[in-house]
Amino acid sequence: MAPPAADAPEEHTKTDKEMVVPPAAQEESSSLDQQVVDSLEASAEDLSPEASLEDSTAGGGADSAGAGNVLKFRVTCNRAGDKHSFTSNDAARDFGGAVQDHFQWKADMTNFDVEVLLNISYNEMLVGIALTEESLHRRNITHFGPTTLRSTLAYGMLRLCDLEPSDIIVDPMCGTGAIPIEGVSEWSNCFFVAGDNSHNAVNRAASNICSLLKKSATQGLPIDTAQWDISRLPLRTGSVDVIITDMPFGKR
Ligand SMILES: C[S@@+](CC[C@H](N)C(=O)[O-])C[C@H]1O[C@@H](n2cnc3c(N)ncnc32)[C@H](O)[C@@H]1O
Repeated sequence: MAPPAADAPEEHTKTDKEMVVPPAAQEESSSLDQQVVDSLEASAEDLSPEASLEDSTAGGGADSAGAGNVLKFRVTCNRAGDKHSFTSNDAARDFGGAVQDHFQWKADMTNFDVEVLLNISYNEMLVGIALTEESLHRRNITHFGPTTLRSTLAYGMLRLCDLEPSDIIVDPMCGTGAIPIEGVSEWSNCFFVAGDNSHNAVNRAASNICSLLKKSATQGLPIDTAQWDISRLPLRTGSVDVIITDMPFGKR
């Protein structure tokens, strides 16, 4: 029996109306289902039961397998592309069935030892094992707003800035502060300023900074907030090294 699929939001899945499909994806769509099926089978064959038991024991996270109990797992699928003849739930259910048959693991949606991740993007599929219990995209944010940026994306943006120690970094439209908060967590030798023209946004950013401070080992963090309008920033020319922001495009 195939296990139930995890309820993954299909946030990247677009309809024909919402997304222009790349020509390459359209041409390949006819053979897509077969490719996915082949990949599912190949992935299942690559993972031998011996290897999984060895890995689990080494990781120390699956005592139940070593003790002769059945390992519990679930499959979470994220899917992008509008030419698939299956849903992410279908893919997760079928892949889960193959995993169950191959490893004799037991499907358990809530109390699982292993979360198998299935990321399908057009005609590509990536299979992985979740290394963290919670997704890292919400790390360090406790007060969310309507347009809170994923922390993982904020980290990537900051990486592209090649920050140097003692740099002054300003996010002039910070919203809940995802970018400067991620910045101060990872580049604590820089100084961050988080500003926004919305009182609520600045309050949320300040609350997020307070939450971060509570779990930090330090007395303070090199970050501050300000309420301002980007067209009238109270900053001297040349006083900022990096401006980084997530602009209000008005659409999501
Ligand atoms: C896309 S959101 C930023 C989201 C933010 N990265 C986060 O993680 O929450 C854009 C922000 O720009 C702010 N904004 C819009 N016009 C502004 C202006 N003239 N001056 C300052 N901030 C402005 C909005 O209040 C909003 O919080």
